[in-house]
Amino acid sequence: MIIVPGYGMAVAQAQHSLREMGDFLKSQGVKVRYAIHPVAGRMPGHMNVLLAEANVPYDDVLELDDINSDFGATDVAFVIGANDITNPAAKTDTASPIYGMPILDVEKAKTVFFVKRSLASGYAGVDNELFYRDNTMMVLGDAKKVCESLLKALKGSH
Ligand code: TAP
Repeated sequence: MIIVPGYGMAVAQAQHSLREMGDFLKSQGVKVRYAIHPVAGRMPGHMNVLLAEANVPYDDVLELDDINSDFGATDVAFVIGANDITNPAAKTDTASPIYGMPILDVEKAKTVFFVKRSLASGYAGVDNELFYRDNTMMVLGDAKKVCESLLKALKGSH
């Protein structure tokens, strides 16, 4: 599983609940890593700071260039409060404001979870076609509340 945090994780202050969920999955034998896009959030290093604050081990946190080629061999991309940094329009739509920006290739994972409150766009104001793909599951809700609920459900099933 690769967790992709973005601006919404910061807004929701979900980093602690997210780390607890990741820790539980690790305790069940899941390989859990975090992928950091260079402009995730609203300032350089935004995600790194929040994950460090939540005591996510540095070795589990990888920058885009170091993890992007792993999505194709990954069961779950868990995108939490992120949007633009995953939008494939950046590769194909020359008219898009994000055209040319490198993106995290989350859609190559077997299943993509998007945790966000709605189908709304992000900072760049553009639609993300990944929300409508067959291998995407939208998990609508506040990032922190969703992590807490998922952890509870995961623990309940063990
Ligand atoms: P965004 O594309 O802005 O997407 C963030 C998503 O978080 C939104 O679509 C929003 O969807 C969701 N969200 C907001 N509050 C939430 C909550 N409480 N719980 C769950 N989800 C929530 O963020 P990104 O993917 O991190 O990309 C960063 C963007 O900011 C890029 O366009 C980048 O160019 C720009 N930017 C970055 C920087 C730096 S240096 N990092 C500086 C300036 C601009 P919902 O409303 O549906 O919940």
